[in-house]
Amino acid sequence: MENLLLLLSLFAVFPSLQALPWSTQHNNNNQQPSNLNNFEGSSDLVNLEYHMGPVLASPINLYIIWYGHWNPNHQDIIKDFIFSLSSPPPPPSRRPSVAEWWRTVKLYSDQTGSNITGTIHLSGEFHDSYYSQGNYLTRLAIQHVIKNSLTQNNPKALPLNPYTGLYLVLTSSDVQVQDFCRAVCGFHYFTFPAVVGATVPYAWVGDSGKQCPGICAYPFARPEGSEAPPPSKIMGAPNGDVGVDGMVSVIGHELAETSSNPLVNAWYAGDDPRAPTEIADLCVGLYGSGGGGGYVGNVYKDNWGNGYNLNGVKGRKFLVQWVWNPVQRRCFGPNALD
Ligand SMILES: *[C@@H]1O[C@H](CO)[C@@H](O)[C@H](O)[C@H]1NC(C)=O
Repeated sequence: MENLLLLLSLFAVFPSLQALPWSTQHNNNNQQPSNLNNFEGSSDLVNLEYHMGPVLASPINLYIIWYGHWNPNHQDIIKDFIFSLSSPPPPPSRRPSVAEWWRTVKLYSDQTGSNITGTIHLSGEFHDSYYSQGNYLTRLAIQHVIKNSLTQNNPKALPLNPYTGLYLVLTSSDVQVQDFCRAVCGFHYFTFPAVVGATVPYAWVGDSGKQCPGICAYPFARPEGSEAPPPSKIMGAPNGDVGVDGMVSVIGHELAETSSNPLVNAWYAGDDPRAPTEIADLCVGLYGSGGGGGYVGNVYKDNWGNGYNLNGVKGRKFLVQWVWNPVQRRCFGPNALD
């Protein structure tokens, strides 16, 4: 109990972020991941509330900004995950699916009675291959990355879509971002008109493969600062890249939270809007039934022994953390056993 309260206050430090699956520096007793945030069975402690703001109810036009140096094969993994979010119901052999995972997100609505949309189009991509804002980005610089993608004298510039746009900035493994690996693996917020020209929701996620896979690509790498499990015990990445397979779960986390709290005035727990605990924060490190205490929960293994819990388009498999189900009042995913 004491521990849980302590942990709740740890999350409060980083507004609208994907909090780390476990803490490396803020927690001196070296807890294992899911201990921190597995509220399964502890729903009385969760005061997730609606704060009257909008959710993303219209079909989302997602724009990806690839910042830095990207391998096309890695981009395909991420794009296939995006395509999987709103793909039609799969045959039983392709379940549980990514689209079924998004159904939990669709359970959230706003005061107009509109639920979060189930349609996410990848409507544009921009390649910032020349590191327009350098190879260290502050949080504010992410907004300049977005601005740059909109305003180039470049036929490839993205449109500014203030009504249904969501901008996703993905940084390559050589790019450092403020608080990346120390406090966050990704975050979401909204742009300022003075920088970008409108208020639009955006999210950032970094490839942690070189900088901190043991923190942000959990469970595909050995947790930093923990006793080393033998390499054979480390879960294999289902698409063959630790950093990018780890990003997929963080992208899912941020898209779920951006959709349910786009202007940071809709769905979150805690009384301080500067420090919201959002629908995915509540379930970090939890991927299947029985998870907790450093155990990811009941997930599947592919033919090569790699871990996954969701099926996607083109035969893809992904491992994506669960999100808070407001009806069942527990962390949930479509691979739940009950
Ligand atoms: C829409 O949201 C409400 C609660 O806000 C929920 O009860 C309902 O099941 C949701 N609808 C869908 C289709 O998810």
